[in-house]
Amino acid sequence: MRVIEKIAEMQSWSDRMRAEGKRIGLVPTMGYLHEGHLSLIDSAKKVSDIVVVSIFVNPTQFGPSEDYRSYPRDLEKDVELVEKRGGDIVFHPSAEEMYPEGYVTYVEVGGLTENLCGASRPGHFRGVTTVVGKLFNAVKPHIAVFGQKDAQQSIVIKRMTADLNFGVDIEVAPTIREPDGIAMSSRNTYLTQSQRSQATSLFRALGTAEQIISGGERDSDKVIGQMKEIINSQPDADIDYVSIVDAENLKPIGEIRGKVLIALAVKFGKARLIDNIIIDAG
Ligand code: PAJ
Repeated sequence: MRVIEKIAEMQSWSDRMRAEGKRIGLVPTMGYLHEGHLSLIDSAKKVSDIVVVSIFVNPTQFGPSEDYRSYPRDLEKDVELVEKRGGDIVFHPSAEEMYPEGYVTYVEVGGLTENLCGASRPGHFRGVTTVVGKLFNAVKPHIAVFGQKDAQQSIVIKRMTADLNFGVDIEVAPTIREPDGIAMSSRNTYLTQSQRSQATSLFRALGTAEQIISGGERDSDKVIGQMKEIINSQPDADIDYVSIVDAENLKPIGEIRGKVLIALAVKFGKARLIDNIIIDAG
């Protein structure tokens, strides 16, 4: 397994692989890898000949008061994990390599980035789409795999890839959870033991929503109200949003019908956690 740090070297490696007729799969990450990330390598391996895992904590997607500096990092362990899981290349550029002095170009997806996480993290998706566009140009993948855990991100990236004709197939893989239901996340390391157990309320709230909808409830405000009650009964929970939106265009809906995304973001101390489920309400 090889670690590549330079964009030019990554591009010429990919050109060689493409010339040999190999199908390249990309798994973009910010590192501190867990089973959720590693499951994306499994998905990528199923549909490509070689898998590149990018590890880059992208400064442009963090707000000024967010955790860019303290974001957990452990490259050595990540490289080991990628190798064990059967990845072929770790692409690990520096911040200067990706954003050299004089850098001024950004990719912005309209419409889909204004609500949910976009509302409380202005500029976040602009940073994500910019870096993912740059990673596509550096790695030149045929396919790229993202996690359903970041539902809005996956939808925004699909839109950008189509709109800018990147020619990359986007796959979305299911959310991997801990045995108690918490979605795996590098940011779970910020939680104290008590917050960690309070955070199981997010999965319970999503489960309750699913239950009441399958019991016939179609009023989103009522479902959201019950979810908020469950989460607010945790002393450290600070809700950013609990929303029910159309699973494709992310617009809020009053009456639950068709495929809906139930998404939430909640702060527990330093950690801002997100989770979601998609339900087909028929
Ligand atoms: P990061 O948070 O490291 O996540 C990398 C990828 O792993 C994303 O596609 C995310 O949805 C997926 N992922 C995270 N937790 C998961 C889980 N529990 N189950 C399944 N998939 C999971 O998302 C980013 O990095 C960045 O925004 C990035 C796309 C790399 C751009 O910088």
